[in-house]
Amino acid sequence: MDCDPGIDDAIALTVLLAHPEAADLIGVTTVGGNVKLDYVTANAKKLLTFLGSNAELASGQATPLVKEIETAGEIHGKTGMDGYDFPENSEDYPLASDNAVTFMYDRISKCDEKVSIVATAPLTNVALLLKTFPDVKSNIEHIYIMGGSTLQGNITTAAEFNAYVDPEAMDIVFNSGVPITLSGLNLTENKAYLKMDEINNIKNLGKAGVMANAILDFYSSAELEKGMTKIPIHDACAVLSLIAPELFTKSTNYSMDVSLTNDQFRGMTYPDRRVYAEVKNNIKVLEDVDREAFVKYLFDSIASYDK
Ligand code: BDR
Ligand code: CA
Repeated sequence: MDCDPGIDDAIALTVLLAHPEAADLIGVTTVGGNVKLDYVTANAKKLLTFLGSNAELASGQATPLVKEIETAGEIHGKTGMDGYDFPENSEDYPLASDNAVTFMYDRISKCDEKVSIVATAPLTNVALLLKTFPDVKSNIEHIYIMGGSTLQGNITTAAEFNAYVDPEAMDIVFNSGVPITLSGLNLTENKAYLKMDEINNIKNLGKAGVMANAILDFYSSAELEKGMTKIPIHDACAVLSLIAPELFTKSTNYSMDVSLTNDQFRGMTYPDRRVYAEVKNNIKVLEDVDREAFVKYLFDSIASYDK
């Protein structure tokens, strides 16, 4: 899992680690995104320690391929995971590598079975992996991405945050030939949200519930201030599209493009809806979810830490 925790990344990791029967997590890699790399790596250590995981952790690229990094501290807090005081014993969590790209290459190529990547952050690490070591593609089963949108943006009118921060990386990944499932804002904001009373109820789900509720409280205050009433848990969708694909009730395969222009369209993703669309790539875009089942799956996953 390649991530930038990040409050919704933290929920996504909590859900993933609750389901070893569905996915055998090889490693977690971090990339600069929601906040700078040092913070997201420290947050990954905090989470892996708190959740009792011993997955390998590697830190990756601090900055996007071309442009300077832009962060989202106003949503995730100064540390990137504000709202909960994690125990202070996480600093010793070992870092298997400070080069996520060679780390991924090594672990994926050595694996006896094909490996899937869940990417919930700007795609800098993943793009470098595919570009630098194209032979790795033969051992990648699928990439499950949170990023982009077929409708609105969030960081700008046109662009979703992960796409906007590193569109050049997204372009490389979209056109890599590796099968992709995309959870964009059209799904994560419009369909797979939590209501405020649901967020409040998370605190009753045991140890992980108290943590998840505290960070989501911080995150939802920021979303409410912006005028949102439905709280998106974007990154959890990418994890669920791997471990519980039955939750997603509608999808369409599209050729998708991402705008690399330096104007108001930078990072905008758009599907080719023409009947005679040129098949540039073939991305499975998730469009709807059984929201009740989605909420239940999230709740059961969080509650499972106390069993
Ligand atoms: C995406 O941007 C980040 O702020 C979230 O963690 C998520 O990955 C949503 O646009
Ligand atoms: Ca993220």
